[in-house]
Amino acid sequence: MKIAMVGSGYVGLVSGACFADFGHEVVCIDKDPAKIESLRAGVMPIYEPGLAELVGSNVKAGRLSFTTDLAEGIAGAAAIFIAVGTPSRRGDGHADLSYVYAVAEEIGQNLKNDAVVVTKSTVPVGTGDEVERILKEANLPVRIAVASNPEFLREGAAIGDFKHPDRIVVGTDDDWARQVMSEVYRPLFLNKSPLLFTSRRSSELIKYAANAFLAVKITFINEMADLCEKVGADVQDVSRGIGMDGRIGSKFLHAGPGYGGSCFPKDTLALLKTAEDYEAPTRIVEAVVKVNDSRKRAMGRKVIEALGGIDAARGKKVAMLGLTFKPNTDDMRDSPSIAIAMALADAGVNVAAYDPEGMELAKPLMPEVAMQPNAYAAIEGADAVVIVTEWDAFRALDLDKVRKLAKAPVLVDLRNIYDPAEVRAKGFAYSSVGRA
Ligand code: UDX
Repeated sequence: MKIAMVGSGYVGLVSGACFADFGHEVVCIDKDPAKIESLRAGVMPIYEPGLAELVGSNVKAGRLSFTTDLAEGIAGAAAIFIAVGTPSRRGDGHADLSYVYAVAEEIGQNLKNDAVVVTKSTVPVGTGDEVERILKEANLPVRIAVASNPEFLREGAAIGDFKHPDRIVVGTDDDWARQVMSEVYRPLFLNKSPLLFTSRRSSELIKYAANAFLAVKITFINEMADLCEKVGADVQDVSRGIGMDGRIGSKFLHAGPGYGGSCFPKDTLALLKTAEDYEAPTRIVEAVVKVNDSRKRAMGRKVIEALGGIDAARGKKVAMLGLTFKPNTDDMRDSPSIAIAMALADAGVNVAAYDPEGMELAKPLMPEVAMQPNAYAAIEGADAVVIVTEWDAFRALDLDKVRKLAKAPVLVDLRNIYDPAEVRAKGFAYSSVGRA
């Protein structure tokens, strides 16, 4: 089957490469000629483990190609996926749908064969209706159906998530579109991944509801962590204890500096806007957004406390290990590190930092931070070392070396990756999240 993927960003590229790997013929389309050039040359525009190899082998096998020409890319495709960005609109937090609608217009101007147009971009309820309206207006002599097929890919684990999903959600009431989408995903449900068919609107909402629920879960355990610190309990035990209840589930209960990334912050805000528009306010999500925002800055205050308070902190040096919003990505969007760096700079603290992949994108976001070539270079002369992102490389630091290089043996572990007793035995003043 021929598949066209309009938008070769994170989602489009991963999905396109995985579909090609299933044996489909896939064309990834993007407006940006530099991106297409570099993809043709085998250079990935993003960092995602395994992606370069997957793209390379499928290009070589002749199943995956790249173009800037939408008309050429969609020619003969039975399924055309729209996977362009839907950033938060400046000013009101609504999802900006201009890219999605522009693609729909362009498909309407160029489509010459029957096709199912599928929105993979995260779009608010009702967007599929508008895409359908735009395509109908084009008055084409071909059969078109519009379906919704949200993605649930985690950065850093996207290929595994695509190939072994918990579920595939397809929203459409059209039998033919269901047939085409079953064909698209046949290799997966042969693999026992459930394919859930719903209405288009339900499918659109599923994506937001899933992300909002996960954001609630993280924020809930983060508040429990704060409470643990006050009452002398251990949030990791609390997590384990509640997570063993099958109704709660053990995942997404790691306390930390607050969620970030390209999805949770943007999607929770967009859900609030939709809820407001339809006069069905989601107050829990509203609270989660506020709590998570204030948490990031509060983590900066936690570091200042470890330095001996606001007066003592001025002029001291902090080493930040990890800047990306989570490991195995170079993505800095809404990363807690940004708010932490800002809070430290405001308090007159000098910050040095190291991140295995994120420093290029971090630089413009935190110009006052001195980027270092490795963890130990950042630690040299530091009055406190702060682990912000749980990269594997930070899980087994040589603590004796850290103590020698640092000015003071102070470790603030915002991801709870160290054993408090072990670190304290090495002579460190150690603080973490939710462990008294
Ligand atoms: C998320 C969803 O998981 C994915 O299904 C959706 O398609 C896109 O958004 P992603 O943003 O890549 O994926 O990252 P994820 O691994 O879900 O983590 C999001 C944030 O939550 C990170 O900042 C992470 O550090 C934080 N987190 C996650 C916690 O603080 N605690 C947890 O237990 C889990």
